[in-house]
Amino acid sequence: MAKFQRHVFTCINDREPGDPRGCCGAVGGHEVAAAFKRKLHERGLKRIVRANKAGCLDQCHLGPTVVVYPEGVWYGPVTPADVDEIIEEHVIGGRPVERLVIPDHRLTGRDPASAEPAGG
Ligand code: FES
Repeated sequence: MAKFQRHVFTCINDREPGDPRGCCGAVGGHEVAAAFKRKLHERGLKRIVRANKAGCLDQCHLGPTVVVYPEGVWYGPVTPADVDEIIEEHVIGGRPVERLVIPDHRLTGRDPASAEPAGG
């Protein structure tokens, strides 16, 4: 069985129009997921890098969101135009694309130990 070196998860979650949480599916998540799948295949990387569609990753306000493992680097909002750069720089080169990285302090569900003190 193949052992993938990296996984690229892209949120494609859809919600009803007007839902205050919004959703990645309505702002381009499907197109981003398709771009990752197609471009990884075109570059011959599909056996070592897995592009997965994901449900809600709980970062809806920052979508479309993408997370790359094993590093656990979060990106958002990502457009199809950003996919080549993420593949080239991060997936192949191992260097996160800083201009698209969601900083830890903006992530929902971050480690409480790293949270800013209340009232600070
Ligand atoms: S809908 Fe994409 S992170 Fe929630």
